[in-house]
Amino acid sequence: MAAKAEKTLDNLFHDTLKDIYYAEKKILKALPKMAKGAQSEKLAAAFEKHREETEGQIERLEQVFEIIGKRAQGKTCPAIDGIIEEGEEILEEYKDTVALDAGLVAAAQAVEHYEITRYGTLKRWAQVLGMKDAAKLLDQNLQEESKTDEDLTKLADAQANDKALKQAA
Ligand SMILES: [Fe+2]
Ligand SMILES: [Fe+2]
Repeated sequence: MAAKAEKTLDNLFHDTLKDIYYAEKKILKALPKMAKGAQSEKLAAAFEKHREETEGQIERLEQVFEIIGKRAQGKTCPAIDGIIEEGEEILEEYKDTVALDAGLVAAAQAVEHYEITRYGTLKRWAQVLGMKDAAKLLDQNLQEESKTDEDLTKLADAQANDKALKQAA
């Protein structure tokens, strides 16, 4: 029986990079739907702003692929597919209700937290693997995701959650 090929942190790093690359591309497609669905202009603007940031994040990931000498390529991530599907359910099931925006904020925060866990891990692994430039690029994405998560909390606190408490007049 042939020995099973050894896998190392390099393999984990590459596979996880493909995972988040796939996820970012899915998110790029989902954000305009979220922006279009949002009732509050501020929330729509936040989704649009993050869509633009996501384009830059994808470019940074492509730079990381270049650093490791691999072709930029995604790998299906069932986790992000599921999280985005739940967001689409909110859009459908809460359409025209006072709770829609609160639900959309929550759905978006689930996405951000998924990204934060991926970038936190990838940044750490890049450091361990001695790839300073890759670690820096991944940290930039991590910071943007964290800031987006905080901004979403502020939007929920300022408006969406209170609005969701009330019956429509
Ligand atoms: Fe992202
Ligand atoms: Fe994000």
